Amino acid sequence: MLAKCLNKIVKGDCLGLLKKIPDNSVDMAFADPPFNLKKKYNGYRDSLEFKDYLAWCDEWIGEMVRITKPTGSIFIHNIPKWLSYYVKLLNEHASFKHWIAWHAPTSPMGKSLQPAHYGVLFYVKDPKKTKIYEIRMPHERERKSDYLRKDYGGKKAGLHPFGPLLSDVWTDIHRIKHNKYRDEHPCQLPVPLLERLILMTTGEKDVVLDPFVGTGTTAVAAKKLGRKYIGFDLDEEYKKISESNLKKVKPDSKIGKSWVSFHLGEVRTLRDKDWADLSTHFEIPESMKDIDFTKIKLKKE
Ligand SMILES: C[S@@+](CC[C@H](N)C(=O)[O-])C[C@H]1O[C@@H](n2cnc3c(N)ncnc32)[C@H](O)[C@@H]1O
Repeated sequence: MLAKCLNKIVKGDCLGLLKKIPDNSVDMAFADPPFNLKKKYNGYRDSLEFKDYLAWCDEWIGEMVRITKPTGSIFIHNIPKWLSYYVKLLNEHASFKHWIAWHAPTSPMGKSLQPAHYGVLFYVKDPKKTKIYEIRMPHERERKSDYLRKDYGGKKAGLHPFGPLLSDVWTDIHRIKHNKYRDEHPCQLPVPLLERLILMTTGEKDVVLDPFVGTGTTAVAAKKLGRKYIGFDLDEEYKKISESNLKKVKPDSKIGKSWVSFHLGEVRTLRDKDWADLSTHFEIPESMKDIDFTKIKLKKE
């Protein structure tokens, strides 16, 4: 069944489809399930009873863990409320790695604290065998002056020319706001988010599976990075959107020999281990040329 689904978007209920995937067979499993928030999908009704929603989540989470290789990783994106239930099951069958807070401000909801992040749970199947790579993101810069936004204090001399190692709080990848960049789908994720997760935990030709693929974001990111993909979705319309999005991309998100994630023509994510090769292709910004970093300034209030 795995071979049949490779590099395909399959229409159907993910539970039945996941059950046909052999144990320990994919390198990365990513899920962005419906959030049970009454979102307007084409066919799916996003409003289960609390208990039923969680019982259903337990089923597909169990399957995701089962099909992931011992070297592989499992990611689940959702609002913090649901993630707080998912961890119970995940902690029994996999090993916690991180709770990634993806900064994403929402409109006021009249709650005591304004929700401003989605979570991405990062679990691994076997912590001794996990495939994982250190990732760098670009320094945050002032748009006009090119100065760095952060004051690195006495450590400026040791700054990496491209940018810092990634933390578990991601503020530099934004939700898709403009309609011209989105498809007819209520919750499309940005491709650079998935590219970052894929670069962090998989190698070329590895298999990435998404049981709720929607517009194909995970599959598109995997294809651009030279990985194999498998996507499931209940909805025929979303399958068609995914396939059309996949047709528009090639496995060419590379500089030299190294896979990287681009957004709007700039590199947003790279692997630390690739820097020696990549640095020969980068123009070091004017503000960093002499490496005395005197031009690094905090934003003036
Ligand atoms: C939150 S959206 C995923 C969006 C996706 N990450 C993207 O960037 O486009 C959830 C998707 O799950 C699909 N879905 C809901 N229940 C499903 C099921 N039982 N099996 C497969 N897909 C399902 C919906 O049709 C919807 O497209």
